[in-house]
Amino acid sequence: MQRRAFIKRMAATLGGFILLSRLPLSSADNGHENAAPPHLPWPYTRLDPEETRKLGHLGYYLFECAGGAFWSIAVQLREKIGYPWTLLPIPSREEAMEAVREGKHLHSLFQYGYGGAVGWGTLCGALNGSLAIIQMVVGEHKHWDALGKKLMRWYESTPLPSDKSNEYAVKGMMYVPKEKMKSTKWLPSNISGSTLCHVSVGKWCEISGYASGSKERSERCGRLTGDVAAMTVQLLNTYFEKGLSAALALAADVRLSPTTASCRVCHYKGKDYEAGQFTRGYLACESCHRDMRPHAHTFVSLGGGHGEAGLKGPSWARDLAIAGLGAAAAAGVAAGVLAGSGSREDRGEEEKEG
Ligand code: HEC
Ligand code: HEC
Repeated sequence: MQRRAFIKRMAATLGGFILLSRLPLSSADNGHENAAPPHLPWPYTRLDPEETRKLGHLGYYLFECAGGAFWSIAVQLREKIGYPWTLLPIPSREEAMEAVREGKHLHSLFQYGYGGAVGWGTLCGALNGSLAIIQMVVGEHKHWDALGKKLMRWYESTPLPSDKSNEYAVKGMMYVPKEKMKSTKWLPSNISGSTLCHVSVGKWCEISGYASGSKERSERCGRLTGDVAAMTVQLLNTYFEKGLSAALALAADVRLSPTTASCRVCHYKGKDYEAGQFTRGYLACESCHRDMRPHAHTFVSLGGGHGEAGLKGPSWARDLAIAGLGAAAAAGVAAGVLAGSGSREDRGEEEKEG
């Protein structure tokens, strides 16, 4: 209840913010000049994922990852729908193209999200900007939550940058003019295993051999921004045309990692402190917690299954929980899963298993 009230307040705040910062309105405004911004959700229309991939890459050059992802989708909605998207203080496609050609700086929304929020290395900005759009156009709380969780886990478990964005860059098919590109090479891809900018960038640098301050690393994040925005549009297109289950089925093999699912049997946001409910979150546990053997003796019993719409664990983890296996079995399962977690080969396995 409280959470819902809070979210309503947030929506009201966002609405107020947009009202205060409105720009002179374009002709696409259709006579809404004095109208207050409508409540969320704002209207959506089918967008082309490939167009979005290229715009996300262009957006990165001007507004970095979070600003670029948000802009690439919002600007298209403004072009196609007009009001209320005309209320957003974001540059037009033409202004963006001109700024890239002439090396000018422009302001847009969500630029704060660069480098995992003001460079802090937390949530990848491409996710941050994309999640914002998902929430703005999908009214139902449960639905944007489920779609957002899909996007997060897809990011953790998909090799990025994608072959498509590499191909566009190599063949000169991006909107950023070739002479302005930071790199036109085919860049290595990897599975980050994390939604954190710090981990995602660090692991990519390790496998590619490029420094975090290199042009190639920056270009990698530009292509990745397009990839995340394109996936967001794929999810949204399917959601609005065929409904939530169809959208979630788009990435049906994208589930919690087996380790995370096994940990979340006990560790989730709940009320039973003794059972392990003094933590929360879906971050891939194995990306940080490597050796959990010391606490295996404390596994007393497995609680009930704990799934949330749109992001279930592998079914064996839930079956185990439902079967209510005892201490020895629980410790054995966790120790077995843990013994192999964290290694590269394992990530490949995890992908195949889903
Ligand atoms: C069967 C239930 C259960 C499972 C499964 C479980 N834990 Fe725990 N965990 C607990 C309980 C209960 C505690 C608190 C008691 C303690 O600290 O010894 C705990 C404590 C911890 C702690 C606190 C520090 C420590 O080592 O004592 C960490 C970190 C932790 N768990 C991580 C994990 C991770 C990561 C996984 C999955 C790989 C996992 N746990 C799976 C029940 C569980
Ligand atoms: C980005 C790194 C990271 C990830 C991913 C991560 N943790 Fe942690 N976790 C930490 C850190 C850091 C601490 C604090 C350790 C400390 O205080 O010694 C911690 C503490 C904990 C604790 C003990 C809380 C306490 O201080 O008593 C538990 C339990 C735990 N994590 C479970 C999990 C589970 C379950 C997952 C996966 C759903 C997970 N963690 C994912 C970094 C991470």
